Amino acid sequence: MDHFEYRDGVMHVEQVPMAEIADAVGTPVYVYSTATLTRHVGVFREALSALDNPLIAFAVKANPNGAVLATLAKLGLGADVVSGGELLRALAAGIPADRIVFSGVGKTDEEMRLALDNGIFQFNLESEPEAEMLNQVAVEAGKVARIAYRINPDVDAGTHAKISTGKSDNKFGIPYDRALAAYDRAAQLPGLDVQGVAVHIGSQLTDLAPLEAAFVKVGALIEALIDEGHTIRTADLGGGLGVPYDPALPIPPSPAAYGAMVTRVTQDWNVRLMFEPGRVIVGNAGALVSRVVRVKQGAAQPFVIVDAAMNDLLRPSLYDAWHDIRAVNKTEKSTVANIVGPICESGDTFATNREMQQVQAGDLVAFMTAGAYGATMASTYNSRALTPEVLVSGNKWAVVRPRPPIQSLIDGDIIPAWVA
Ligand code: LLP
Repeated sequence: MDHFEYRDGVMHVEQVPMAEIADAVGTPVYVYSTATLTRHVGVFREALSALDNPLIAFAVKANPNGAVLATLAKLGLGADVVSGGELLRALAAGIPADRIVFSGVGKTDEEMRLALDNGIFQFNLESEPEAEMLNQVAVEAGKVARIAYRINPDVDAGTHAKISTGKSDNKFGIPYDRALAAYDRAAQLPGLDVQGVAVHIGSQLTDLAPLEAAFVKVGALIEALIDEGHTIRTADLGGGLGVPYDPALPIPPSPAAYGAMVTRVTQDWNVRLMFEPGRVIVGNAGALVSRVVRVKQGAAQPFVIVDAAMNDLLRPSLYDAWHDIRAVNKTEKSTVANIVGPICESGDTFATNREMQQVQAGDLVAFMTAGAYGATMASTYNSRALTPEVLVSGNKWAVVRPRPPIQSLIDGDIIPAWVA
């Protein structure tokens, strides 16, 4: 459920008419709903209520805007970060270090030092050489790093290939059959405190079976590790739960169903469970609002050309992702159209042969479910300014990241003397 609703045919974000924001800030613009964020955190937490003190670490990559992170921090969430930049943004937003876990396949020594200095809760390591490097950095700093190994369980998540991470040929985690040896080695390193096991098999999962298969493997590994004399205190089950994008498709499993499965599978583990949800927290809490520049008749179908483009919302272009596209002012007639941006690539297409409400030049449209992996994946391709972001709460709204002036792109370039 979200708080983007038509009232008398006019789309509102909570109590604010979407057009009011678009007129004031200009388009394209991302709009987020605080009530939806709050609701999703509540639903996810409720789904895990049978567990003892789980750590819910929001996957910052899904939406790193400071106002979004600060909202989630106030709701008690931790953070899953994958870079020094994400770590600094999470801390700046008020997320305490003891709720931060550092994932990622290529952490540098500099990033490790930063995380150690800030005293984060856990490093999720993805290889044996990474363990050696973290040990060295920790010993040099006179610190001990709490670690888990991320296991590659060789499970097919059944999602888009570009966001599947749990098959043995993916770059993520250490192979399951090398895990025991890797833990034995890590336990001997003075700069490491081995505390847990981690897994994350992919994103936008619409079936619980692969998640369960991966968790069962984690459980078996925990047992084997304890048999070998290791003390395992945490198990990080990653993120990945899908959200509904296309109303014509079956609804993905609910957080409640996910929580029930987790509770059942992990009941004998005796560890603190950790979670890294991203999309399920912020996906439906955001929309990208855009204005129709013109409608052009193609050979077969009309092209609805909007002022948002693949640089603002990359998902359709990169993953053939489906976003619901709605007219901000409801219209009676429907049409079948191709919705495209102004960028000079055929890949700059949001939807083909899409049945949607008929719109014309000047109308506003909203790309729904754009709160996750939307603004965060934007670029300035075609010298377009980064998309601004707005946060709504009840009848209040605020720009939480302004649109930078194009002059900042020009000023950012340095022209060497020999060129000038
Ligand atoms: N934990 C780890 C280690 C991850 O790599 C990810 C996402 C998450 C948690 C959060 O997953 P979520 O709950 O959001 O599914 N740009 C793509 C998604 C990439 C996901 C990358 N990792 C998209 O737009 O669909």
